[in-house]
Amino acid sequence: MERGKECLAGNVWRWTTSGDWCFLGYMPFDEPSRRQFLAFLASSPLLAAAGLDDTLLTRLLRGDRQPDDAALRIAHALAQPPAKPVLAAAASDIRTPAEALDVFDFEPVARQNIPVAHWGYLATGSDDDATIQANRQGFDRWALKPRRLIDVSRLDTSLSLFGTRYPTPIVINPVGSQKAFHPLGEVAVARAAKAKDHLMVLSTVATTSIEDAIAARGGPVWFQLYHQSDWAITKQMVQRAERAGAPAIVFTVDLLGGSNRETMIREARKDTRTCTKCHLGGAPLPGISGRVDDRDNRRKPNLVGYQKATPIPEVGTPTWEFVDRLKQSTSMKVLLKGIVTAEDAQLAVQHGVDGLFVSNHGGRAENSRRATVTSLPEVVLGAAGRIPVICDGGFRRGTDVFKAMALGATAIGIGRPYIWGLGAFGQEGVEAVLGILRREFEVAMKQSGTTSLAAITNRHITPA
Ligand SMILES: Cc1cc2nc3c(=O)[nH]c(=O)nc-3n(C[C@H](O)[C@H](O)[C@H](O)COP(=O)(O)O)c2cc1C
Repeated sequence: MERGKECLAGNVWRWTTSGDWCFLGYMPFDEPSRRQFLAFLASSPLLAAAGLDDTLLTRLLRGDRQPDDAALRIAHALAQPPAKPVLAAAASDIRTPAEALDVFDFEPVARQNIPVAHWGYLATGSDDDATIQANRQGFDRWALKPRRLIDVSRLDTSLSLFGTRYPTPIVINPVGSQKAFHPLGEVAVARAAKAKDHLMVLSTVATTSIEDAIAARGGPVWFQLYHQSDWAITKQMVQRAERAGAPAIVFTVDLLGGSNRETMIREARKDTRTCTKCHLGGAPLPGISGRVDDRDNRRKPNLVGYQKATPIPEVGTPTWEFVDRLKQSTSMKVLLKGIVTAEDAQLAVQHGVDGLFVSNHGGRAENSRRATVTSLPEVVLGAAGRIPVICDGGFRRGTDVFKAMALGATAIGIGRPYIWGLGAFGQEGVEAVLGILRREFEVAMKQSGTTSLAAITNRHITPA
């Protein structure tokens, strides 16, 4: 259907120029609207798609009602807006990672392989999952401004971060419980990170220890921190990460207010397995605190093995005072993950934080309905070039990476895409996802005439 046209039958939708559908209202099948609809149908590709031909349409326009209802029903069904549920994955027939054309190709394969409750954990956002969609739509608000006739035969996509050089600015973000998606979990991801030389951040609630992840990566891995209700334990976790060789700690601050994950619970209810290997605490409940229930720590090696010391209970939820304490407790770099405003970015700089992740936890923290790429410019402004700013949430294309870099990101992070690769094909799948994103990013860079990350500026994008 041509963009901007309306379908005049039943529910009336308009396909907007930005590629979205908007609901205009309900139109009954009265005679004038029927004729209008048929006239519209005559000029539409829906005609062919519905298997209708000109002769039939002529008969319909003459008023021959016999086949009319059936034709209208088919055409009406075809004219409905595409469903956009978070859990709907497009069909893909890839049998090997090499067949994938884009990262989306891995999603349906992973979904087939992963138990339904675990899929729910991966796919869920918060409330109605709208912030997952917002993260994606944020990229549509920007268009590229390609430049021509610049020599792009030599491209440098490398990034230097805290003294380490990586070949791309694409970071493997922390995702918990990866053995829920593949038997090797984080080990397979770390091996892929090694093969492709990507920065990897390991979750506190990983199913692999920080020591084993660093061994599989064959080099440093950053450690993501969920604080514990006892500072004595948190401190031991930080010290352990440092001893293991992590150069940076990423304190996640976007779940401190809890999170309501309905999709996760709905999917878990469909699962007939008793998943006691993973969970001791029973089925997930509404309201995720971000803290891990002690009973669930059996398969969370980063949460076990600490010395019993005199507990130092936290009073309330963490504030900037906690960030100061964290900074003082380690010589590792300390980054905050989940910052989405200029105000908090400024405060972070004032408190000596070493870097930021602009993140809403992939739409699974608060249901802000604000894309992280929309928050990015103000965080960059707040950070004022003093500390690196990494942006994550909804990155699926090399052009997404390019747009964020043009808006001032130092690097970008991915979550679900590499887990689709993992769930579909293990380490090979993760490598393929990283390779595809890098290739797409390189094309975007070349098409923009930018041969290094520093050359990518806001002059290369424009509001769409
Ligand atoms: C299944 C899942 C588990 C996650 N676990 C963590 C975690 O343990 N710690 C954390 O800081 N972020 C976690 N995240 C958030 C990711 O680090 C990242 O912010 C998010 O996935 C980026 O959005 P994307 O999935 O659209 O790429 C998780 C995300 C998903 C999808």
